[in-house]
Amino acid sequence: MSTQLTPIMSAFWDHPQSWTLATYEQHDGYRALRQALQGPASDLVQMAKDSSLRGRGGAGFPAGMKWGFLPPPDGGPRYLVVNADESEPGTCKDTPLMLATPQFLIEGMIITSYAIDCHHAFIYLRGEELHVYRRLLKAVQEARDAGYLGTDILGSGFDLEITVHSGAGAYICGEETALLDSLEGRRGQPRLKPPFPAVAGLYARPTVVNNVETIASVPPIVLHGSDWFSGIGTEKSTGFGLFSLSGHVTRPGQYEAPLGITLRELLDMAGGIREGHQLKFWTPGGSSTPILTDEHQDVPLDFESMVEAGSMLGTRALQIFDETTSVVRAVSRWTDFYAHESCGKCTPCREGTFWLKQILERLEAGRGSRDDIDKLVDICDNILGRSFCALGDGATSPITSAVQYFRAEFEAGMHTPVHESFPPQRSTLFAKETLSA
Ligand SMILES: Cc1cc2nc3c(=O)[nH]c(=O)nc-3n(C[C@H](O)[C@H](O)[C@H](O)COP(=O)(O)O)c2cc1C
Ligand code: SF4
Repeated sequence: MSTQLTPIMSAFWDHPQSWTLATYEQHDGYRALRQALQGPASDLVQMAKDSSLRGRGGAGFPAGMKWGFLPPPDGGPRYLVVNADESEPGTCKDTPLMLATPQFLIEGMIITSYAIDCHHAFIYLRGEELHVYRRLLKAVQEARDAGYLGTDILGSGFDLEITVHSGAGAYICGEETALLDSLEGRRGQPRLKPPFPAVAGLYARPTVVNNVETIASVPPIVLHGSDWFSGIGTEKSTGFGLFSLSGHVTRPGQYEAPLGITLRELLDMAGGIREGHQLKFWTPGGSSTPILTDEHQDVPLDFESMVEAGSMLGTRALQIFDETTSVVRAVSRWTDFYAHESCGKCTPCREGTFWLKQILERLEAGRGSRDDIDKLVDICDNILGRSFCALGDGATSPITSAVQYFRAEFEAGMHTPVHESFPPQRSTLFAKETLSA
């Protein structure tokens, strides 16, 4: 555990032109690629394994092992697809990373493509993010103009093209196989696994799908070594990552820190909960990870400790809520999201999220019936583990954890509307603007 921040990918986000290739090169940019191209590809796969880098997209699967799953080259195409869909409520790390320093991702993609013998890589970007799309297109163009992309990269004989693809704004397209279907031009719905993408992914060819932050972590690992990386963080959750603090916190934002840091340490650096208020509940990794309370402030934010505490590290999207927030209202809004984003392929999730939404709306309005809480938990029980993909499981997490910690608030939903127990708050900003007007 550490109280120090480790600004690596965010080290020069405050530079006035942090996103340009020139700025990136001033900060060691593309030194890792030059180094990587001098050795065999297999060394890079071994390096990723030795570093114990785990996927930053939520599940924490070891990156080096995933790259190693690809079958030996057979002369046909192999693909790298970067998952930049980032649509989970609260998750907001890949977008700032791609806006502030897109070259970390581009350089990481070139090194990873070399490692897995891929000559055409893709970035699948969340549909609404036109500003990020433009920035990525410009970053790819700058890299190509400098000879880092195209044919015979830096005289190594290695060729690579990168295509930036904008989705149409569906949360399910972040699920890796739905993403691949969408990228192929079909409706984005999860595929049956096996076969896994490593064997039959994009266009039924061997494919590695990795999160933006996973791939952006590769250049620093090549540059400083796998021992350096595995020396940061905890034994099983190595390295650093972006922790996104949002909600009722004094200084919300991105805090790049070693895995294993605690919420208390992060809050210290972020100026604490907004003045005059106390922490009530929080999510460690987006709305799909079970909520935690003020009792969990000292639990290390690593993959293992979060599971032991009954939650998950997920995407390190720390949404912080103080005592003015109704847990029923928060959970009800998240459930609206899951019901809307359910792709409809399987019955437990499609039907279950619809009914969860009806019950939560009743409880929020103070019109709940006596068996509504049991019904909520029972429906969650029927979705969890019985859905085709993890979206269904994720939809149940906020509900079951909120009932576990705040049952009395759900019981109040049988007689008192949330807007009476938790009247809407005027924000400090709004109050100041009104006063000065
Ligand atoms: C509904 C759903 C949405 C997801 N959204 C994302 C996403 O936006 N970005 C992401 O990297 N992974 C997302 N994932 C996880 C991916 O399926 C996959 O595990 C990940 O891209 C693998 O990359 P990593 O190993 O580098 O973490 C999502 C999963 C589900 C079930
Ligand atoms: S769990 Fe939901 S999102 Fe996933 S396949 Fe089933 S209906 Fe679609």
